[in-house]
Amino acid sequence: MRGHERGMDGSTARASYDESESRADAAHVARSHETPRREDCRTVKPDMRVSFAGLELKNPVIAASGTFGYGIEFEEIVSLERLGAIVTKGISLEPMAGHEPPRIVQTAAGMLNAIGLQNVGVEDFLKRKLPPMSRYPSCHVIVNVFGQTVNDYIGVIDRLNDAEGIAAYELNASCPNVLAGGMTFGADPYALEELVERSKRVAIQPLIVKLSPNVTSVIQMARISAEAGADAVSLVNTFRAMTIDVETRRPCLSNVTGGLSGPAIKPIALRMVYEVARAVRIPILGMGGIMTPEDAVEFMLAGATAVEVGTASFADPRAAERLANGLESWCKSHDVAKVSTLTGALKTGA
Ligand SMILES: Cc1cc2nc3c(=O)[nH]c(=O)nc-3n(C[C@H](O)[C@H](O)[C@H](O)COP(=O)(O)O)c2cc1C
Repeated sequence: MRGHERGMDGSTARASYDESESRADAAHVARSHETPRREDCRTVKPDMRVSFAGLELKNPVIAASGTFGYGIEFEEIVSLERLGAIVTKGISLEPMAGHEPPRIVQTAAGMLNAIGLQNVGVEDFLKRKLPPMSRYPSCHVIVNVFGQTVNDYIGVIDRLNDAEGIAAYELNASCPNVLAGGMTFGADPYALEELVERSKRVAIQPLIVKLSPNVTSVIQMARISAEAGADAVSLVNTFRAMTIDVETRRPCLSNVTGGLSGPAIKPIALRMVYEVARAVRIPILGMGGIMTPEDAVEFMLAGATAVEVGTASFADPRAAERLANGLESWCKSHDVAKVSTLTGALKTGA
């Protein structure tokens, strides 16, 4: 901006100003990615426990909905007991087949998906998917709930209430890839209020409301959720987006549009978590492009109590476990005795 103003005086001045400015910027960016040197890494094991909404997690790393199946499918590649929790794929009353392929496409620094909430339905989930998770009692199971009407959501919660082994419900009020349900609730303040209020009345487990970033004010939606009785909010779901294949001149996804996730969305998601943390008193689960332990630390400093890891599991199915281990090492090397002290510890101002 300043470079542009100076540029009014002549192009040479602008060029040299821009060069030195961009060198300074580059140096700043490089510095901000350096890991501070610690000569004396403490050997004391940091306390990685976090608690929110009545749940105690052994660490703040949670596998995000839709990117980790129902948890149990990963048991042979991931040490599930290393994760704080897993969130299941969105569960509806009846099984759903989802959209036709192609449903996933890679983008610069992320991916676009329009799965269309394919899932086995609540009965099959309770019969086949949930019971084997009892082999990993320290990994909490959070069930992501989805419906096309408020009664659908309530029907799913009602059915889940009868089951053993569910730690909390995450209401998906934010899916950008289906015509009815999901974002219909997440983008309409009155619909969201009714959904949360009525769900809270029937839910016997803590209720987490997953917010959409595709709204004018995520702060308003977080406040509405809190006032309607949510025990926590999670954010963000994916950003509505699209890509086009120029050879065929067709959209890359069968659904035309999809939801963008991965590192491309991280700075926006982080800003939203920061703003919501200043607006509500209930705990926040932060997510959006978390790939490294440092990314997780950023979300916690911005105000998240725990973090969810999604797209990273597509690049490396062990990403969540790697993150849980990496976050512990990060705490150790930075003399952080309790990971929970990172939440909201962002320093601003002079
Ligand atoms: C393939 C795919 C499927 C998803 N399915 C769901 C879902 O069923 N319910 C939900 O609430 N979020 C779903 N999400 C959103 C993720 O849980 C997460 O909010 C989002 O991807 C941002 O995190 P990330 O950048 O770490 O992936 C899905 C994301 C992807 C990539």
